Amino acid sequence: MNTLHLASELRATVDRWRAAGDTIALVPTMGNLHDGHLALVAKARELATRVVVTIFVNPLQFGPNEDFGRYPRTLADDLAKLAEAGVDLVWTPPVDEVYVNGFPPATTITVSPIADQLEGAFRPGFFTGVATVVAILFASVRPDVAVFGEKDWQQLQIVRRMVEDLRVGIQIVGYPTERAADGLALSSRNQYLSEADRRLAPKVHAALQAVAAGLTAGRRDFAVLCAEQSALLAAAGFKPQYLEVRAPSLAQPAAGDRDFVVLVAAVLGSTRLIDNLAVRPV
Ligand code: PAF
Repeated sequence: MNTLHLASELRATVDRWRAAGDTIALVPTMGNLHDGHLALVAKARELATRVVVTIFVNPLQFGPNEDFGRYPRTLADDLAKLAEAGVDLVWTPPVDEVYVNGFPPATTITVSPIADQLEGAFRPGFFTGVATVVAILFASVRPDVAVFGEKDWQQLQIVRRMVEDLRVGIQIVGYPTERAADGLALSSRNQYLSEADRRLAPKVHAALQAVAAGLTAGRRDFAVLCAEQSALLAAAGFKPQYLEVRAPSLAQPAAGDRDFVVLVAAVLGSTRLIDNLAVRPV
């Protein structure tokens, strides 16, 4: 496995592969890899002959009071996992290899209004940071296909929309969320949870399942259904930020829709948990 830091080295390697007839799949990450990331890598290996993983903790997607400084950085461990998973190349650029004319960059990408709601309402600027860095990673690697986790459902929709609007010409593949046995969605931030909070954390998934059960039973009082579960989370010690039913595109749902996604964010102790569940009532 190649581990490279410079964009020029990355380009030279990818160009060589392309000349030899290879196809390229990209898995963008911020490192601190868990089984959820490795499932994305396994999917990427099915989709192309070469797999590139990027590890870059992107300062542009962290707010001033967020966890950029303490975001877990575990490069040696990550590289061992990626080598074992059969990755061909890992790009771990320094900030000035990504933001080539200085940070913060003069050029950013905002995908409105989809980025202003849900996560975007609680993390202003977050999706501009994500869309901008993803566009730069795409331009640097120039993959045929890129794989993103569905755990970040809104991020996935934003990346899809950006790729469509800007005619980026890269196939975007979403991959289902990996969960612990008790239902908690795998996330690098789960390690911030205290032992007691870790025991409570699966209630977030349980709340999504309860809303899904309501939808499947025919309820369409979306706001009431979500408010009931939000109140239960609050009573259990969470600070719910949003719990909403949407169409998969994130448009507001209509009673006659056949597909829904339920999305939640809740703070537990000092940890912010997000999750979602797709629901297709029959
Ligand atoms: O999902 C993530 O880990 C990040 O938002 C991404 C897509 C790697 C961009 O920094």
